[in-house]
Amino acid sequence: MKKTSWQWKTIIEPFKIKTVEPLGFTSREERERILETAHYNLFNIKADKVLIDMLTDSGTGAMSAEQWAGIMKGDESYAGARSFYNFEMAIKNLTGLEEIIPVHQGRAAEKILFTALAAKEKYVISNSHFDTTRANVEASGAIAMDFPAPGALDFDKTGPFKGNADVEAMEKFIKEKGEKNIAMCIITVTNNSLGGQPVSMENLKSVKKICDKYGIPMFLDCARFAENAYFIKLRERGYSETPVEEIAKEMFELCDGAMMSSKKDALVNIGGFLAMNDRELSLKCRQILILTEGFSTYGGLAGRDLEAIAIGLKEVLNEEYLQYRIRSSQYLGEGLLKNGIPIVNPPGGHGVYINAKKFLPHIKPQQFPGQALACALYLEGGIRTVEIGTLMFGKRDSKGNFLPASMELVRMAMPRRVYTQSHIDYVIEVAAYLAKNKKSIKGLEIVEAPLVLSHFTAKLKPAS
Ligand code: F0G
Repeated sequence: MKKTSWQWKTIIEPFKIKTVEPLGFTSREERERILETAHYNLFNIKADKVLIDMLTDSGTGAMSAEQWAGIMKGDESYAGARSFYNFEMAIKNLTGLEEIIPVHQGRAAEKILFTALAAKEKYVISNSHFDTTRANVEASGAIAMDFPAPGALDFDKTGPFKGNADVEAMEKFIKEKGEKNIAMCIITVTNNSLGGQPVSMENLKSVKKICDKYGIPMFLDCARFAENAYFIKLRERGYSETPVEEIAKEMFELCDGAMMSSKKDALVNIGGFLAMNDRELSLKCRQILILTEGFSTYGGLAGRDLEAIAIGLKEVLNEEYLQYRIRSSQYLGEGLLKNGIPIVNPPGGHGVYINAKKFLPHIKPQQFPGQALACALYLEGGIRTVEIGTLMFGKRDSKGNFLPASMELVRMAMPRRVYTQSHIDYVIEVAAYLAKNKKSIKGLEIVEAPLVLSHFTAKLKPAS
């Protein structure tokens, strides 16, 4: 990997630790019982019984001493709190957008935006919608369409910007459906659904060009904007000397609006925002905000949360931090590959996605290879991950049976500033043990599963 100002081979955690939390050690026998009681669904396991929690990078990061100091300074006034103005200024300064609306998390921004957009039966086009984004587009009566870059689904083949949108396919679709029927374009940075892969500046510019040509507003789903900007610095021609902050600003300059789950790159445990230049649309959004989230200067957050976000949005652009962050997931990815574990290559920004279909060919999709691997990682090492495969996305037939999804992945997400290199070495060791003993990993079958968002509550058991 190219270096920033750091000239040494070993990339270090750019922080020292002031507060510690114990990890949840358990024995293998205990975890065997826990898995059984949790019906082989890791969402049912108490966090105290998890040793390394890689379920998500969302809201699980560690705040800095600066942010904790900001928490104490939070202004809890109902209207016009000082903390709101700090929050607003931080976002305006970063994005250059005019209308800033606080929300309690990303999906609230989505719900408000698509309700205000009122684009029933129209299309929302994207490189890839994240699942809550898709669900909120569809709940508003609009239709979500993904246009991932060609090759994005070839997991073995590496590439610098596998999160890109397929601009040609997008334009063809716009012409086919008529620009009046395309309500919005949303570019997700980084592309979470396809392995946390980045989007290049060139691709953002091309998407913007066709959006302008057809009068379609372009919004960024910018949950991981700083990781995306750092990838541009590392991988895109002409950016290696540009400060990441400038790259991030250039990304935002290209868009008409943005929505963010601040639980990721704002380095906080809760929060989000909606930002745009369209005053009329923002007024509609604020009306819905007041109805569902709270007054327009707090939007479902405490003053202290707004303060922590304002600080986090600046901290996340620190290049030593980003160097450590991206190196950590790369290190995990390299460790897995070295031990014969296939991943979505290259490793993403916020984690590594194991290709369970390729890793466990002896388990057929109907027996949930991703979930079987996630359970095995917990059983052997107390590591919690998440299946992104048939259990999460498999469509159901008329009898409710799962049909195979197009991919069987297991995401190892990396919480921000939480684990150190030895934690990751441990994860690699456990995964390597599983690689040597993978024949012993058996498939699972459903005991019961609701029809909607079944992965959260499904009950499973070892396949007979
Ligand atoms: N957009 C993206 C790209 C996301 O990754 C998420 C959440 C959201 C929107 C929704 O934000 O959770 O604050 O309501 N992703 C989490 C994850 C849940 O685990 O990847 P939220």
